[in-house]
Amino acid sequence: MKSWILCGALLTFGMNVLAETTIIPIETDNTALVYAVGDNGRLYQNYFGKRLSGKADYAALPQGKEAYLTHGMEDYFEPALHINHPDGNPSTLLKYQSHTVKAVDGGTETVITLADPEYADRVDLHIVAYPKENVYKEWAEIFNNEKKDIELEKFASSLLHFRAPKYYLTQYNGDWASEVHPHDQELHYGKKEIDTKLGARANMFVSPFFQLSLGKPATENEGDVLVGTLGWTGNFRFTFEVDNRGGLRVISGINPYGSAYTLGKGESFLTPEFIFTLSDRGKGKASRDLHDWARNYSLKDGLSDRMTLLNNWEATYFDFDQDKLVSLIGEAKELGVDMFLLDDGWFGNKYPRHSDTQALGDWDVTADKLPDGIGRLTEEAKKQGVKFGLWIEPEMVSPKSELYEKHKDWVITLPNRDEYYFRNQLVLDLSNPKVQDYVFGIVDDLMTKYPDIAFFKWDCNSPITNIYSTYEKMNQSHLYIDYVRGLYNVLDRVKAKYPALPMMLCAGGGGRTDYEGLKYFTEFWCSDNTDPIERLFIQWGYSQVFPAKAQCAHVTTWNRDASVKFRVNVAMMGKMGFDINLHDLNEGELAYCKQSIKDYNSLKPVIFNGDQYRLVSPHDGNHAATMYVGKDKKKAVLFAFDVHPRYDEALYNVKFDGLDPSLTYNVREINKSDGSQGEEKSYSGSYLMTVGLPLFSTSKLSSRVYEVNSI
Ligand code: GLA
Repeated sequence: MKSWILCGALLTFGMNVLAETTIIPIETDNTALVYAVGDNGRLYQNYFGKRLSGKADYAALPQGKEAYLTHGMEDYFEPALHINHPDGNPSTLLKYQSHTVKAVDGGTETVITLADPEYADRVDLHIVAYPKENVYKEWAEIFNNEKKDIELEKFASSLLHFRAPKYYLTQYNGDWASEVHPHDQELHYGKKEIDTKLGARANMFVSPFFQLSLGKPATENEGDVLVGTLGWTGNFRFTFEVDNRGGLRVISGINPYGSAYTLGKGESFLTPEFIFTLSDRGKGKASRDLHDWARNYSLKDGLSDRMTLLNNWEATYFDFDQDKLVSLIGEAKELGVDMFLLDDGWFGNKYPRHSDTQALGDWDVTADKLPDGIGRLTEEAKKQGVKFGLWIEPEMVSPKSELYEKHKDWVITLPNRDEYYFRNQLVLDLSNPKVQDYVFGIVDDLMTKYPDIAFFKWDCNSPITNIYSTYEKMNQSHLYIDYVRGLYNVLDRVKAKYPALPMMLCAGGGGRTDYEGLKYFTEFWCSDNTDPIERLFIQWGYSQVFPAKAQCAHVTTWNRDASVKFRVNVAMMGKMGFDINLHDLNEGELAYCKQSIKDYNSLKPVIFNGDQYRLVSPHDGNHAATMYVGKDKKKAVLFAFDVHPRYDEALYNVKFDGLDPSLTYNVREINKSDGSQGEEKSYSGSYLMTVGLPLFSTSKLSSRVYEVNSI
């Protein structure tokens, strides 16, 4: 007899009730992940692929590989779980106990309970399926029901098995100011790991996501591809291991490096969410599904609007005073943006923050720089009709600060070694509840004193080095993990008290870019590199996983060879802001920026909430094009860029995507540099998508924006 769970209210099934074969298909509209209990009582992953036609198909599947494999038993490859038991036994055997299925927001959650018959430990595998978006998220909870402590050496969120003739992995790595460069490789026998050990600014070198093509390299619109990302604002690890028979396992979770975790009797360990989608229509579809999922269920205020802004960082760096800021707030108004954002340099009195060498930790307004406090600035913003945002870096401390002098015990640093500074600073020990209270207090005090603060840019410039905590309850190997949990504790409190407060997640550029962090942040700073050419690549990289509205893209003076129009058009493809001295713009350029903000405001609904189509990759040549199509397919916007065309180069049409082939569309160029608009022409959706239009030119560093409206 077979038992079936497809969906529904909470249903519980157990071994005692059922006969031998329990099959658990977890479906989305397009895919199915199928688990089954073997005759030996263990759980197997029988299938992950295109959704099959029904029960009979799922029953016909041969037994696959064991799910959530453990260390110390018969398997020869990397396990998901490794527990050291109190008696010294390092093995775990997991047998199926029961499973439940219940409806959750947007989908169903299946919880499969596994337990070791010899030891009292239990593992609950949670798998949430979002049918419409074809997205899954999976995590594990490990329970210590033994009489003494157990040690977790490995504790993955997810282990997935694949079987294909070939595997191609795309990872996204880089460094400060050169984030998310894609690198492809074919996987062969053995192990490939993508991980980070940076602790706080965890994604400085590598982003927590990947694409895995099955059989052949996937393109934008073709091929089977798994796109996965871990929701954890700390050390992560993805392990890809090809075995002797060509099977591949993908293990995702917190990086267990330096993080053996002791679990007390009666305690449980919750792993972070591994979020993934399997597309049979290439990377573009996978991205769009992830964008939809993020907006609907995960990203903070995913469906709401975002504010355009003027940020003073690149316009002033640390060199400003009250008068200058008051005049910049006026400039924000003149430009027509929603908000003025005051960046680094406004705090510290004993050690004023005149450079990045001091003052982190002393969050009192520098009196001789801003004599009338933040209140004068929020008041000015109110007067001008713009919102006011503020930069903070609350997890950090400068060795030259009053906080450091008072609370050296709050700092992560080795007691018997020289201190090591990254950007002249150290990381506070967020595993300590007192430090959590202090960090929450920074936001809370500012909001209490200045309730008109409407936005925070939350920065984090240092990784964790010289790792050691003096917090008395601390087990040192817990610190990487408990740091992140401490951070979430603070962010939970901020979110609970100020639910409507939007915040930007920043870590020296894109050093923190994960979906758990983005439950608290409405957007993230992609990179300190705002050269528009570089940004074409960086935003292309992030768009694989994150929607445009989450990606902060500012117009600056990086790369003055590029026109203001080019810079603005690149920024329009994300959440646009300006970080520029308006006096650096001539009259025509300023007028262009003002018009662009108006244009952007009317295009925003499509850019933020529509479907993104990456039409022509900057990685493939001298041009790039991206398109956003409204969900009803009535309105779209297309951005076309010529980066460094060759002399007399042959140009090809840009083929549109995502339109309704049966509708007729008016296409016209908008947002031209002289303020005019192009001539409107009509085409069928089918023509635009099959033949396309000649939108590229041989003019170096030129850009064009096209509005597409159905008739
Ligand atoms: C980091 C951020 C920048 C800016 C500076 C301020 O580098 O990425 O945008 O806020 O800090 O010090």
